[in-house]
Amino acid sequence: MDFETLALTRQSDRAYDRTRPVEPEKLDKILRIALTAPSACNAQPYKIIVVQDEKLINEVADCTSAKALGMNHFTKQAPVHLVIVEEPGNLTSSIGSVIKDKHFPWIDIGIVASYICLAAREEGLGTCILGWFQEERLKKALGVPKNRRILLDITLGYSTQPLREKKRKPFEKVVTTNKY
Ligand SMILES: Cc1cc2nc3c(=O)[nH]c(=O)nc-3n(C[C@H](O)[C@H](O)[C@H](O)COP(=O)(O)O)c2cc1C
Repeated sequence: MDFETLALTRQSDRAYDRTRPVEPEKLDKILRIALTAPSACNAQPYKIIVVQDEKLINEVADCTSAKALGMNHFTKQAPVHLVIVEEPGNLTSSIGSVIKDKHFPWIDIGIVASYICLAAREEGLGTCILGWFQEERLKKALGVPKNRRILLDITLGYSTQPLREKKRKPFEKVVTTNKY
């Protein structure tokens, strides 16, 4: 798939075929490609927890859904959850974050998440990045230390959703020439 097609056909998939597992070699390939993502000072400040255990998936999914708000009710359908934990950066990226007042690990995690989604799309798999979940409960379920943060969960599986047209802000509202 060329990059344009990849970008245009990647979407947040919110329905999956739970009976169709993700092939281990595809999962491995997606993760290996994702780990080539750039990061500030090459710190790679993350761990990715691959959740495939049936019972744990249900627990993770419960942490992500909010019934009252109708949020993330689809997450039990995904046969894989990739939970991204923020790890300490290296010395230079940590100093850089303070001096420049920019929390580089969060930027890095956003980039690795997008690599995961695009690599998955290339393999014919669907994803949805989730930022909405009960973090403390999820940490407990996955044995994540108290001093760590879980920033994202990405659902992964064979999507049963048709391709949607992209809704985006008008180009001129986002891109300007020479000045703000
Ligand atoms: C940081 C982040 C957090 C997100 N959290 C959620 C979420 O909790 N639930 C959800 O259904 N979608 C979530 N999304 C997906 C966005 O809603 C989606 O990317 C956006 O609406 C654009 O649609 P598209 O991905 O289909 O192009 C999140 C996306 C990002 C980047």
